[in-house]
Amino acid sequence: MNSDIHGFYKLSISERIDEIKKHVQLTADDVKALENGGLDVKTADMMAENVIGTTRLPVSVATNFTINKKDYIIPMATEEPSVVAAASNAAKLARPEGFTTSSTDPIMIGQIQMVGIEDLKYAEKNIMVNVPSIKKIANKNDSTLVKFGGGLKSIDTRVIDTERGKMLIVHLNVDVRDAMGANAVNTMCEAVAPYIEEITGGKSKLRIISNLATKRMVRARAAWKKESIGADVIDGILDAYAFAKADIYRCATNNKGVMNGIDAVVIATGNDFRAVEAGAHYYSAVNGCKPLVKYEEKNGNLIGTIEVPMALGIVGGATKTNPVAKVALKILGVKTSRELGEVAACVGLANNFAALRAMVTEGIQKGHMKLHAKNIAITAGAKDTEVYITAQKMVDENNISVSRATEILKELKIEEAEKAGSE
Ligand code: MEV
Repeated sequence: MNSDIHGFYKLSISERIDEIKKHVQLTADDVKALENGGLDVKTADMMAENVIGTTRLPVSVATNFTINKKDYIIPMATEEPSVVAAASNAAKLARPEGFTTSSTDPIMIGQIQMVGIEDLKYAEKNIMVNVPSIKKIANKNDSTLVKFGGGLKSIDTRVIDTERGKMLIVHLNVDVRDAMGANAVNTMCEAVAPYIEEITGGKSKLRIISNLATKRMVRARAAWKKESIGADVIDGILDAYAFAKADIYRCATNNKGVMNGIDAVVIATGNDFRAVEAGAHYYSAVNGCKPLVKYEEKNGNLIGTIEVPMALGIVGGATKTNPVAKVALKILGVKTSRELGEVAACVGLANNFAALRAMVTEGIQKGHMKLHAKNIAITAGAKDTEVYITAQKMVDENNISVSRATEILKELKIEEAEKAGSE
C-alpha cells in the first residue's frame, strides 16, 4: 500500500472513501458508521450514565505516513483545522525513509498505598519474599490476560515521605498486552491488597493504576533533509526546541502541538485520551522541562525524536463498542497495542515538526486561517455552497473574519436576489 495518495484532500468525501477501499475492505456498515457518527444513543446509554445524546467530531485520515518501511493511512478525530493537513505534510517531507519506531512491552503500573506500617524495611522485604504468592493472587483474576502472555510480571516498593507521615507504595508491574489496561490493573490492585495488608501489618488505601506509564514507552524518529526543508527552517526549529527546553510556558504549548496529533489518533480509535494526556504532560515535566520531541542536526539534516508514555488498547473499552473506533482500527490495520502507540507517536512528532516549521517561516496563522475560513463562514451563517464561496473569497482577500464573512454573505444574497429579479 502507498499512503502517498496524490491530491487526496481535493477529492469528495465519497471519492476519499473509495480511495481507502482500494487498500482496506470497508463494508457498507463501516461506511454508514463513518457517515452517521456510528454511536447510536442506545449503545451510548450503556457506556455512560444519564445519557441524553451523542456528540461527533470530524474523522479525517492523514496520508503519506511510512513507518518502519510500511505505509499507513491514519484516522484522526479532531475539530481543529490544519492538524491533519500538517501531519500529512510533515509525513510527506519525511518520505521516502519516513519514521522508525520502537517500544517497550505494554507494562502498566498499579499503585497500592499502604499506611500505618511500623517497620517499613521489614514490610518491603516481606513483600519481595512473597512475590510468587502475590503474583498467584493477581494472575488468578485475569486468566485471559495470562493466556496471552500478560499478567503481573514484577513488583517494586517505594517509601515516600508525605505530610501525613511515611507511606509504603507498592507498584504492580502488569503486562496488559493489547488492552489499555486500567480495568485489569485496578482489579489486580484490589485483589492483592488484603494479602499485602496481611504480610506488612499495614492498611491499604488507594489501589489504582498510575497514568504515568513510564514502563509503557514508545519512541519514534524521523529525519527531514536540508534539501527539502532548508537550512533556515532547521536553524529555526533548533532555536524553538531550545526555547521549549528552557521555558515551561513554551514547553506546555509545544507539547500541546504534539498532542494535537496523538489525541486525534487516540480519540479516533476509541481510546482514553485523558490517560494519554496525563502521562505525556507529566512525563515531560518531571525532573525539569523536557519537550516531548527532541531535535538535533546530523549531517546537515534535522532529526526529530519523540519519547512518550502511551497507554492505548485495541481491545476492550470503546475500541469495540464505538463503531467508528472499530472502522478506524480497521483502516489503520495495526495488530497490537504497541503498534498503535508507535503510530500515534509518529503523528505527534509530525504535528510538532509541522507546527514549528510553520512558526519559524510564515507563522502559524496563515495556513491555519486558510483552513479555518470555512468554519468562519459557517459561524457567519453560510450554508452549502455559500460556505465554499465565502471562504474562498476571504482567503483571496487575505481577510478571514466573521465580519468579512457576514458582508460577503450579504453581497451574495443581493446578487442572488438581483439574478432572480432579472429572470
Ligand atoms: C496549536 O493548536 C498548536 C501550536 O500552538 C503548537 C506550538 O505552538 O508548537 C501551534
